[in-house]
Amino acid sequence: MTQIRLGAVDFVCMISRYRRVPDRRDCPSMSRKKSVWPARIDVLQSLSGLLLVLFVWMHMFFESSILLGKDAMYRVTKMFEGEPLFGKPYPVLVSAVGVVVFLLVAAHAVLALRKFPSNSRQYRQFHHHRNAMHHPDTSLWLVQVVTGFCLFFLVSAHLYIVIAQPGNIGPYASSDRIWTGNFWILYALLLVAVHLHAGIGMYRLAMKWGPLSSDNTAIVRARLKIAMWCCVVFFLCLGTASLLTYMTIGYEHADRAGERYRPGVERQPGEGA
Ligand code: HEM
Repeated sequence: MTQIRLGAVDFVCMISRYRRVPDRRDCPSMSRKKSVWPARIDVLQSLSGLLLVLFVWMHMFFESSILLGKDAMYRVTKMFEGEPLFGKPYPVLVSAVGVVVFLLVAAHAVLALRKFPSNSRQYRQFHHHRNAMHHPDTSLWLVQVVTGFCLFFLVSAHLYIVIAQPGNIGPYASSDRIWTGNFWILYALLLVAVHLHAGIGMYRLAMKWGPLSSDNTAIVRARLKIAMWCCVVFFLCLGTASLLTYMTIGYEHADRAGERYRPGVERQPGEGA
């Protein structure tokens, strides 16, 4: 199996097991011990990717609380600021989580960079193989590379706001940013890129580490692909519905942009939010 991937020098070395070769130092794979680091880095890349996908999927449920109303989103915001625990909100907690997530994104990107084609010759070879093989998973890998590249910029812009202005999250603050601040453009691009990347990433993780055997690979692959597209479509619909809701609230609140939301319990009867 591994012999298929051997280069020309190693092939000569394999043959040399049967016919004497003059110098073993000519055979790198026989004279040197193989490093375990590529395998370790692979595990770390998979692990950081898995953590990020789980974070993003959880994040989508919390962020879409706006679909249940402004009060629901307000309560979720205050929960993440630690109000139920400490009696008053500490937005710095949100910044702290933002920093941890950014470090995880950066680590994942650095670990993944080594697999990107690094020059035009490698891109040409990749396209040549892809066109010759018509292998759908190879095309999915290309989507992963392109969305991963875009994500580094899109996620950095989003996380910068989260880290620098953690108190500026809430039903009106978020909607004003999205509509009056034109952040809907960033979020629309982020939404598509992150859910394609997350869905395909989970599919690839399952194919790589899941329990596959030679007789069930085809059926498992087909089922995993259906699950992948179900996740992508579900989160794209949830995210689009939430984004449209934030945009509508922001549009209606545009002439009072900057004003903070006051939850129902803090208002007098008949008083507006
Ligand atoms: C601590 C980290 C994070 C926090 C606190 C956070 C919070 C939020 C909030 C409050 C919104 C609503 C819009 C706004 O207020 O600006 C939002 C939108 C969004 N966030 Fe995050 N976010 C975090 C990290 C991430 C990461 C790492 C990703 C993706 C890799 C991400 C992807 C998105 C997307 C796609 C939207 C738009 C969702 C939609 O269309 O409904 N976020 N985020």
